[in-house]
Amino acid sequence: METNLYAQLAERVTEQIRQGAVQTGERLPSVRKMAQREAVSISTVMAAYSFLEQQGWIEARPKSGYFVKQKQTDALQKPSVICAKPKPRPATVSQLMMDVRRTKVADHGNFSRSVPALDLPIIQQIKRTYTRLSRTKSYVGVGYDSVEGLPELRQQIARRAVDAGVFISPESVITASGCQNAMALCLRVLTQPGDIVAVESPCYYGLLQIIEAFGLKAIEIPAHPESGMSIEALQLALAKWPIKVILSVPTFSNPLGCDMPMARREELMALLDRYDIPMIEDDIYGDLYFGERRTRAVKSLDADGRVLLCSSLSKTLDPQLRIGWIMPGRYFEEVAYSKFVNLHTHSALPQMVAAELLAQGLYDRHLRLARETYRQRYQRLADLVTAYFPAETRMSQPQGGIVAWLQFPEQVNTTELYHRAKAEGILFAPGELFSISGQYKNCLRLGYSQRWTPEREEAIQRLGQWVKEALHA
Ligand SMILES: Cc1ncc(COP(=O)(O)O)c(C=O)c1O
Repeated sequence: METNLYAQLAERVTEQIRQGAVQTGERLPSVRKMAQREAVSISTVMAAYSFLEQQGWIEARPKSGYFVKQKQTDALQKPSVICAKPKPRPATVSQLMMDVRRTKVADHGNFSRSVPALDLPIIQQIKRTYTRLSRTKSYVGVGYDSVEGLPELRQQIARRAVDAGVFISPESVITASGCQNAMALCLRVLTQPGDIVAVESPCYYGLLQIIEAFGLKAIEIPAHPESGMSIEALQLALAKWPIKVILSVPTFSNPLGCDMPMARREELMALLDRYDIPMIEDDIYGDLYFGERRTRAVKSLDADGRVLLCSSLSKTLDPQLRIGWIMPGRYFEEVAYSKFVNLHTHSALPQMVAAELLAQGLYDRHLRLARETYRQRYQRLADLVTAYFPAETRMSQPQGGIVAWLQFPEQVNTTELYHRAKAEGILFAPGELFSISGQYKNCLRLGYSQRWTPEREEAIQRLGQWVKEALHA
C-alpha cells in the first residue's frame, strides 16, 4: 500500500470500482461524507477525487458531485497471438540480453527485471533468519552436503507440493541452485546437441539461452495470452518433427502471465503420453496466483514420471538465496548424477534458511501478502498504461506472477525504444529477447512487483509518450 494518504484513499476507491462495489454511473459519497467515513481531512478527499478524475476513473458533474466513469482497464485489449510458422531453429539469443542485464539505472526507472518486491517484511525476516542460523548451526567444517540436498528443505518442498496437486516424498526431490540451474540439469539429461526442444512463444529468454548453450534447436509453439501454449500447434509439431522434450511454464508464464486451464493441461499430458516424451515444467511463479487458488501443476497428472517439475524461491522470496529444486520423476538418478557432475553440492546455510522459513509458516504468510500486493500493483500498471499509452496498446492480463506483456502496432520498434529509454534511465525487456525467430519487435515486458512511487509512475508516463512518438513518426 502506498504511503501517501490521498493515494491510499484513491487506491481504495479504484479497488471498489474494480470489484464492482461501486458501479459505472453511480455517485460517489460527497467530499464531506467521504472524509467522515474514512476519517481523513476534506483536502485529502479533494486530492484523491481530483487524482481519480485525472486518471479517468470518475468525473465531476456540476452541482451533482462525483460519478464513476466507464471502467478504465476494460478498454485495454489483450495481446494477439503472433505466430511465425513453427520450425526448429538453432537458438541464438542476442547480446541485447546481456546489455539489459548489465545496464544499471536507478531503481525507479527499472522495469526490466522479474524480481520480488523489495519493500515487503520478508526481506528483514530472511536477514534475521540468516543471522540466527549462522550463529546456532554448523554449516562450515561439515564437509559436503548430500548430492540431493538438505533433507529438511526437501521435506518442506515435498510438503508444499500438495498445493500444486503433487503428492511426492521428500526423497523424490533434488535441490538445485535456482530454477535456471534446475532446468539446465534436466535438459542435459534429456537431450544431445542438435536435438529439438519445443518451447512456448513468447518464451522466457533464460530458457532460450540454455537451449543455445547446449547446441539444441528450439521450435516455437505459439502461446495464447490467456491459455498458454497452443495444444493444437504442439500436436502438429509433434507429428512433424522428432521433438525430444517439451519445455513450458504453464502457470503464469513469463512474459504473458497466462495460466493454462486444467482441461488444456490434461490434453497436454495426453500428448506427452501418446508421443512418449518428457516435459520440463517450470513452475517458478506457481505460488503467486491472484485468484482463490492455483491451478494444479501438469506434474499432478503424471502417472508415469515423465514430467520433471522445476521451481525455485527466486520469485517468491529472493533470488539471492539461489534455492531451486527438481521433482525429476523417473529421471531421478540421471538428474542427481547431472547435479553432482555440474554443481557438486551447494551451500547448506541458504538451504537451512529456506527450510526454516517454510517450516515456520513465514513463507505462507508472506505469500498471502505478496499475492495481494502484486495484484494491486498490476492494476496500477494497467491504469497507467491506459492513461498514458496510445489507445492501440494491448496488454496481457496476468493471472499471477510479476510481469506483464505489452504489444503495439508493427511500426513501434521496441529495440529502438529500449535504447532511447535506456539513455534516459528507464529500462524494460524488449520483445525480441523472447523469440529466436525475430518476432515480438513490437512488444515489451514490464515488471510490476515494485512499489509505485511518483517517480516510477512518471517513468511509465514518459515511456508511453515515447511509444506515441514512435507510432506517429
Ligand atoms: C520462467 C522463469 N524460469 C526460470 C527463471 C530463473 O530463475 P532462478 O533465478 O531461480 O534461476 C526465471 C527468472 O526470471 C523465470 O522467469
